[in-house]
Amino acid sequence: MNVLVAGGAGYVGSHAVAALQESGHTPIVLDTLELGHREACRDAELVVGDTADYDLVTHVLKEFEIDTVMHFAAYSRVGESMEEPLKYYINNVVGTLKLIQAMMDTGVKRFIFSSTAATYGEPEKMPIEESITKCPINVYGHSKLEVEEACQWLSKTSDFKYVAFRYFNACGAHKSGEVGEDHEVETHLIPLILQVPMGKREAISIFGTDYDTPDGTCIRDYIHVSDLADAHVRGIDYLVKGGESGAMNLGTGSGYSVRQIIDAARKVTGQEIKAVEAPRRAGDPSELVARADKANNALGWKPVQSDLETIIGSAWLWHKNHPNGYAS
Ligand SMILES: NC(=O)c1ccc[n+]([C@@H]2O[C@H](COP(=O)([O-])OP(=O)(O)OC[C@H]3O[C@@H](n4cnc5c(N)ncnc54)[C@H](O)[C@@H]3O)[C@@H](O)[C@H]2O)c1
Repeated sequence: MNVLVAGGAGYVGSHAVAALQESGHTPIVLDTLELGHREACRDAELVVGDTADYDLVTHVLKEFEIDTVMHFAAYSRVGESMEEPLKYYINNVVGTLKLIQAMMDTGVKRFIFSSTAATYGEPEKMPIEESITKCPINVYGHSKLEVEEACQWLSKTSDFKYVAFRYFNACGAHKSGEVGEDHEVETHLIPLILQVPMGKREAISIFGTDYDTPDGTCIRDYIHVSDLADAHVRGIDYLVKGGESGAMNLGTGSGYSVRQIIDAARKVTGQEIKAVEAPRRAGDPSELVARADKANNALGWKPVQSDLETIIGSAWLWHKNHPNGYAS
């Protein structure tokens, strides 16, 4: 199938491009390159442009005879979303609705959307089930929830079909070591930890050591980016076979603490990684872990690369091969 990958030059999208190619599909990337990298698309067709550009998107959908759209293009820094909320609503909500409008006007009906665990907010009960009440605590999470709700109504009122995948903590890199995470402003724990053995950071900060968890540090559900990509490829088949539109968690169903991640990084890199204890940050729940049965059953999907050693080993290979990220 010909699949439009909006945001395919970014971290998760570029792994979906690789997975699509590996499974015989043809990805066509649409990306502004504002936050992404040309080389991350490797030999896939790249159209530089914005999801909000209706004329361009309709042209691309027709020109490449697109069957399905995977949509990764968004802004996703939580802190920034609270400082510049309109920027987030305009890109993440309006930009997505324009993309969907172009799809509907050209008869493209299948949509696979990158949503997030941030739509839930701070639920008390773990693991998190898809059906719980959503109370996002930041603009980023709310912008994704708004898109999910629009998709739900569109699927009820037309033949638009979608899956919204709520990712937990995406991490790791492609096994080749040639595609990986390169964010100009890095906020994710594993690349930040690996900056210490790379000599780019003196120490990693542990924010909060007095949480109600076995070692006092926050627990998160870490899911390898190639496992995420695999779920997206399976999502195409799911929709083609008439699977019900809706949202699914993508996580492993179990979590690791910050200290466990740092210890695993010490083991994989063979280096002492200095850690310093710091106060808690506002809005960091003690634990966020997915209940993942829905995706397991509906897609026949199981994470196979999400053990800590593979996650950190693959990320380490990528960072060692590309100490300054992509060339662009
Ligand atoms: N990385 C995670 O842990 C995580 C977790 C949950 C959800 N998500 C979601 O997954 C998606 C991908 O995340 P990522 O970490 O790969 O982000 P990323 O910033 O690496 O990639 C996003 C890509 O989209 C492009 N882009 C942004 N707005 C665009 C627009 N209007 N038109 C065209 N291109 C545009 C950027 O240039 C970039 O290449 C995002 O929607 C994000 O909200 C990510």
